[in-house]
Amino acid sequence: MLAGKRVTLIIGGGIAAYKCLDLIRQLRRAGAQVTPVLTRAATEFVTPLSIAALAGEQVYQHLFDLKDEAEMGHIQLSRQSDLLVVAPATANMMAKMAGGLADDLATTLLLATDKPILIAPAMNLRMWEHPATQRNLAQLRADGVGVIGPDSGDMACGEFGPGRMSEPHAILAAIAAKLRAGPLAGKRVLVTSGPTHEPIDPVRYIANRSSGAQGAAIAAALRDLGAEVVFVTGPATAPAPEGVVLHKVETAREMLDAVEAALPADAAIFAAAVADWRVENSSHQKLKKTKHGAPELIFAQNPDILATVAAHAVRPALVVGFAAETEQVIAHAQAKLARKGCDWIVANDVSPATGIMGGAENAVHLITRDGVEDWPRMPKHEVAQRLALRIAEALR
Ligand code: CTP
Repeated sequence: MLAGKRVTLIIGGGIAAYKCLDLIRQLRRAGAQVTPVLTRAATEFVTPLSIAALAGEQVYQHLFDLKDEAEMGHIQLSRQSDLLVVAPATANMMAKMAGGLADDLATTLLLATDKPILIAPAMNLRMWEHPATQRNLAQLRADGVGVIGPDSGDMACGEFGPGRMSEPHAILAAIAAKLRAGPLAGKRVLVTSGPTHEPIDPVRYIANRSSGAQGAAIAAALRDLGAEVVFVTGPATAPAPEGVVLHKVETAREMLDAVEAALPADAAIFAAAVADWRVENSSHQKLKKTKHGAPELIFAQNPDILATVAAHAVRPALVVGFAAETEQVIAHAQAKLARKGCDWIVANDVSPATGIMGGAENAVHLITRDGVEDWPRMPKHEVAQRLALRIAEALR
């Protein structure tokens, strides 16, 4: 995924520095070369020796280390990588970066570089929420610095809330997204996901049981192959992946608007369970019980987003739909492929006995114009990875 990429990893002085050992391992497994830089405070939490052993490279620590400067100047060091990552980014480090300070090797590299920067903040929750830190965060974002996390949870200091550094796998995904590495580098892919909510009145709506898990997994897998992913999601229970361009919508018509606004794209994957109908006579006020009995709802057909995009003036080169069937899965899916004008249909049997709807696994058939492939039952994230690889092949 990151073969041929070099990442300078600046390890800041926080308890989360220990997670960088795993991050280095994961980066190297993904094919990246890692240049580690430790701040003075970082050495209180991890040793240069363990970092060097895992990175398989020299650790840089001091601005005025003559040996390093003789071999490689700090300017060169700041530019030899494809990306600079600061993990953990402490409140102090963020303040220095936002203010443009350069009083040690790490901050000098960050100021001298012409490469993109990604930070993974980690600190006590009060420090994170402090107006000064939020001000610095806004400044860094405005300067084009990418930010991953922090996560919420139990903190080493005994408090609970946002401030934990993101897990190494999430940082790795954000690095891949920032580097646009992998076979889908330079490609823009649109993914719809989740259910839609169609209002009856301001407090009631029509929905379905889609969790959005398969769509989120597909978006993450495409991102991990280097695509720029535009993720248009209804109100799903599964969290949206990190490192995608996120558009949250409620209704089918809002989803269509967001999808059309996101075009052009190289591929579009329609994993959303869009409500076929909306309530045409939805009420602006909460419906009240009356002595005249139950309200009469009038339904109107929603636009078919997949069919609209498949026939669009700026149609993506690859349009993929989903078909959830309970009988004659292949025949129904093949008819759907022709009817909607898409290139592929990912079909599955969602009969209750299969346990697929709401479950962690899926068994799908990939229907193309050339035939049908039956994929074995596997976890949804593996279905997503396999589909993402097929999409990468198709767009090559
Ligand atoms: N779809 C869409 N917009 C809609 C309805 C569906 O984009 N208004 C997409 C879905 O995201 C999915 C595919 O079309 O990719 C599913 O087609 P659909 O006609 O909804 O089929 P099923 O839900 O499987 O049900 P049925 O065949 O019973 O209509």
